Amino acid sequence: MIILGIETSCDETAAAIVDGGSAGTQNVGTQNVGTQNFVFLRSNVVSSQIEIHKKYGGVVPEVAAREHVLNILPVVNEALEKAGIKRENAGKKINAIAVTIGPGLITSLIVGVETAKVLSYVWNVPVIGVNHIEGHIYANFISANSPPEADQPWAGKQIQNTKYKIQNNIKFPAVVLTVSGGHTMLVLMKGHGKYKIIGETRDDAAGEAFDKAAKLLGIGYPGGPEIAAEAAKFSISNFPRPRTAQRGRQFPNKIRLPRPMIYSKDYDFSFSGLKTALLYEIKKSPPTPLIKGGAGGIGIPEYCHEFQQAVIDVLIHKTVKAAEKYGVKTVMLAGGVAANFELRKQMEKTIRTLIPNSQFLIPALQYTTDNAAMVAVAGYYKALRKEFTPWRKLKVDANLELK
Ligand code: KG4
Ligand code: ZN
Repeated sequence: MIILGIETSCDETAAAIVDGGSAGTQNVGTQNVGTQNFVFLRSNVVSSQIEIHKKYGGVVPEVAAREHVLNILPVVNEALEKAGIKRENAGKKINAIAVTIGPGLITSLIVGVETAKVLSYVWNVPVIGVNHIEGHIYANFISANSPPEADQPWAGKQIQNTKYKIQNNIKFPAVVLTVSGGHTMLVLMKGHGKYKIIGETRDDAAGEAFDKAAKLLGIGYPGGPEIAAEAAKFSISNFPRPRTAQRGRQFPNKIRLPRPMIYSKDYDFSFSGLKTALLYEIKKSPPTPLIKGGAGGIGIPEYCHEFQQAVIDVLIHKTVKAAEKYGVKTVMLAGGVAANFELRKQMEKTIRTLIPNSQFLIPALQYTTDNAAMVAVAGYYKALRKEFTPWRKLKVDANLELK
């Protein structure tokens, strides 16, 4: 079964092709897949608008929508070409179109959804509406269970986008920490398509907190990668040999930010107070670009290091607590903030130490932020359950809930 995935919920225009088969299929290329299900990613194209929105310090919905309109067909075309599907045969080769219907920016979502409807109408193939959060969760089904270091360019093993085998042996129940620019939630997954939200943020999402903190510190957009890069300078700079720092020794910080709600009895989060605490510290001691801050001062890298660690501590603590309470077999990370190297590394170490019998999964780096491969994979599993929507009935829902 060949699925075209389309994603336009925010500021990435994306299309991808996955190829899946059911039990009984024996060979895919040179690989024998026995009687298992298999899913292969055949292409994954992402056109990012980050450079355009950077100058405004955030996504401008009207601009994003216009860019999607301009990019969507070239992006779909490239995904087909990379997957070796000729445009004139596409209607015969593609079995279903999976598209993000929400949550997200309504003006952005509508471009992807209307495109999917038109293609469904012209090719006469069914459409599958996918929840964006569900897509992020299914990014875990793309990458093999590799150590996070394998995703890093310096490990010299960057994973190729195409023909990448997809996981299908994930054991349930699973708990998924979903952390993006718009959402922060702990999801209990009892099986494919079976979700229960057991905790979520009461105010800002984790990614949003990174973005706002970066603004307060006067560093770039999006804030997550900028803060991570500054934070990395701090830990490494305090040691003569970087390798020692990488083994986890920490230099005592000059500031200490709160870990909001870390010991609360529920699985909820709150990051807005953390941002305010950072603001007060910045007012007391304006950050300097210096790594060690100079005489008595505090450098931007140190602020970033402490802010990032405060977020990570809370995320890890609540995830472990939920995993233990629900006795899960798998712990997964999902969403744009899952690109954070320290979060990946520290979460993996903690889960392996405290819940050694569980499976731990993180999407490969390129599938953490918005992409259509994750939408196509989620769509594949929905197609197996025959969750199709006639094109006339497909609608966007900017506030779609995960159910
Ligand atoms: O999932 P995503 O691409 O879009 C949404 O669905 O929101 O997530 C984007 C968010 C942004 O807030 C961005 O700052 C954050 O993910 N992010 C990171 C990192 N890379 C992206 N946050 C922390 N560390 C990173 N390395
Ligand atoms: Zn997203």
